[in-house]
Amino acid sequence: MQTLLDYIVERVCLLNKIHGKKILYNQQNFDKAYFIRANTFLTRYNLLLQHQGKTIDYAIDCYLQMIADINYETVQFIRTGAYTSKTFDEVNARVYNNPEVMQYYVHGILLSQFLWAHHYNILLFFNSVIKENSTNIHSYLEVGGGHGLYASEAINSIGEKANYHLVDISQSSIDIAKMMIANNKVHYVLSDIFDYNPTTKYDFITMGEVLEHVEQPIHLLKKLFSLLNDDGKVFITVPTNGPTIDHIYLFRNAEEIREVIAASGFKIEKEFSIYSENVSAELAEKYKVSMMYAGVLTK
Ligand SMILES: C[S@@+](CC[C@H](N)C(=O)[O-])C[C@H]1O[C@@H](n2cnc3c(N)ncnc32)[C@H](O)[C@@H]1O
Repeated sequence: MQTLLDYIVERVCLLNKIHGKKILYNQQNFDKAYFIRANTFLTRYNLLLQHQGKTIDYAIDCYLQMIADINYETVQFIRTGAYTSKTFDEVNARVYNNPEVMQYYVHGILLSQFLWAHHYNILLFFNSVIKENSTNIHSYLEVGGGHGLYASEAINSIGEKANYHLVDISQSSIDIAKMMIANNKVHYVLSDIFDYNPTTKYDFITMGEVLEHVEQPIHLLKKLFSLLNDDGKVFITVPTNGPTIDHIYLFRNAEEIREVIAASGFKIEKEFSIYSENVSAELAEKYKVSMMYAGVLTK
């Protein structure tokens, strides 16, 4: 019987043969648990889309539009060695404040969590970190929650005992996160994180793929430092060499990320990193293959 995942992979291969090869390659290397998990997620996602009058084909189109953007940005990155956007204002107008772009972009990122091996492995790492810490988490903040998948996974592990806040600068992200999380325990805040000044601090802060979206990442980590309880923890993910429409700050390698973490006052408790392609570190370095870094930070 054809699963929803089979259908998505088949349709991606039909509509974009070159990208389809990468997706098929990824599929060959996943274990049995992945297929169960991916299909469970996709079945729920499909139902939520249907409630909004959308179909899974809409999500696949969004994903392929995001891939087309990444391909364009990658060509520019190879030519110039820099990301095309330089300032927050530029990206805010081009992406966060542009519902047409943001809609396909956030749905695209959501599907990538199960189609890209490195995104899926980072999600597994996040789940293990949340499980290890769940008993100590009574207040949870997610910064740039985007599609809401991480917050949704956190709620599944931590449960109803905690308070949840999700801050995002984009209304489109908030709308999609609300749809995905579907839990009225979560307080959604439409705000630039720099303008968010709650009266209490948090036990755990998750910030997936936001550090590269700002002009001065040290300022952003210092902001998180100010929002965290003294014995709290932060989970961050940051891509290196990852050209996309909303990346501003170029981290070239994990060492540059660690330097920014140290300069902002945090210590690294745990880390995990994975290249976006299944290549040796030597080849990845040579061809500037993007790497996803994940770190658990403490004060
Ligand atoms: C690439 S998405 C990441 C989504 C998700 N966290 C993940 O890891 O897949 C970046 C998200 O951060 C939000 N964002 C970017 N800059 C922000 C800022 N200064 N304050 C709050 N949210 C921000 C964007 O609107 C978007 O939803």
